[in-house]
Amino acid sequence: MMTVKIGIVGTGNFSQKHAEILTAMEGVMVVAVCGTSQQKAERFAEQFDGAKGYENFETMLDKQALDGVYLCVPPMAHGEMELELIKRRIPFFVEKPLGVTIDKPEEIFAALTRQPLVTAVGYHFRYRESIQYLKDILKDHTVGMVTGQWMGAMPGVSWWRNQALSGGQFNEQTTHIVDLMRYLIGEVVEVQAYVGNRVMANQADDVTVADVGTLNIQFASGVVANVTNTCILPEGLDAVGFTMYTDQAIIRWTPDELIIETAKEKQIIPDTLDAYWLEDEAFIAAITSGEDQQVLSTYSDAFQTQRITDAVQSSVEKKAPIKLKS
Ligand SMILES: NC(=O)c1ccc[n+]([C@@H]2O[C@H](COP(=O)([O-])OP(=O)(O)OC[C@H]3O[C@@H](n4cnc5c(N)ncnc54)[C@H](O)[C@@H]3O)[C@@H](O)[C@H]2O)c1
Repeated sequence: MMTVKIGIVGTGNFSQKHAEILTAMEGVMVVAVCGTSQQKAERFAEQFDGAKGYENFETMLDKQALDGVYLCVPPMAHGEMELELIKRRIPFFVEKPLGVTIDKPEEIFAALTRQPLVTAVGYHFRYRESIQYLKDILKDHTVGMVTGQWMGAMPGVSWWRNQALSGGQFNEQTTHIVDLMRYLIGEVVEVQAYVGNRVMANQADDVTVADVGTLNIQFASGVVANVTNTCILPEGLDAVGFTMYTDQAIIRWTPDELIIETAKEKQIIPDTLDAYWLEDEAFIAAITSGEDQQVLSTYSDAFQTQRITDAVQSSVEKKAPIKLKS
């Protein structure tokens, strides 16, 4: 069996997460790590047998014959690396979101349309058993509307609080909920968003992201949705998920469980598998086979979710509803 050789960019939380999963897989090795300094890259690489550290991305690609690359970097660092990987025909996995604005993702999407390549994006909730189960049963329901939310504390990493680096909470976190709605319901035709600064900007000078927001969505099917988010809650307090109202049930999904409530019964579907493992497994299988059918979120698919986030930001700036071109 061939060994799949992986390079990882970034030495933070999510590089660690994927590196641990990948190195636990049969036939997969993390052989290279690229960080913002040689020292950080080497320190990270030391954890994995035979892995080498690099501070320059192109040097890493020149020196190592990689079968795939993971880009686990903050939103502002996306763009040139993906374009370089497309040029070199190296499959890549990127953590969501695809960028701060739509500009670089648009360039990458166009390059991938011209030269298809195996890609995957870290919208891992798609791999949840509960989401797969829901996707299947929704064939027999008519969805009327959906409400969703991502309520929590502000993440501690410094780039997250800076609008120019992270793109704000809708781009950074709530994108997961919007992506699930797209996955389950279909494409979006119009959005209108409102945001505010209630707490966090008063606590620190460097907070430029909004800390409360609400988003109305119109889907092509006629389904309407509202998605809200806040990052003002104390650490440890959160409410993440969505509720669907259909012609047969109230369906509540959270990262913990799926509850389907009809007039007669209440069914609880727990998740038992690790969705991060499943998404990494799907990407490795796609590298090996050259086919990406098992990948539930490709770059081209995630690009459509990024277009919604971009429209959300436009709506905030223009104080108006924004139509998405089909
Ligand atoms: N899918 C999920 O559930 C999930 C969960 C957490 C984080 N994420 C995503 O993963 C991404 C990274 O988050 P994190 O928590 O690991 O952040 P982090 O701040 O812990 O790590 C980011 C790393 O990227 C490095 N970096 C920044 N610019 C770089 C560049 N140009 N070249 C090389 N390295 C660079 C930083 O030095 C740091 O090591 C974010 O986009 C985040 O949204 C996804």
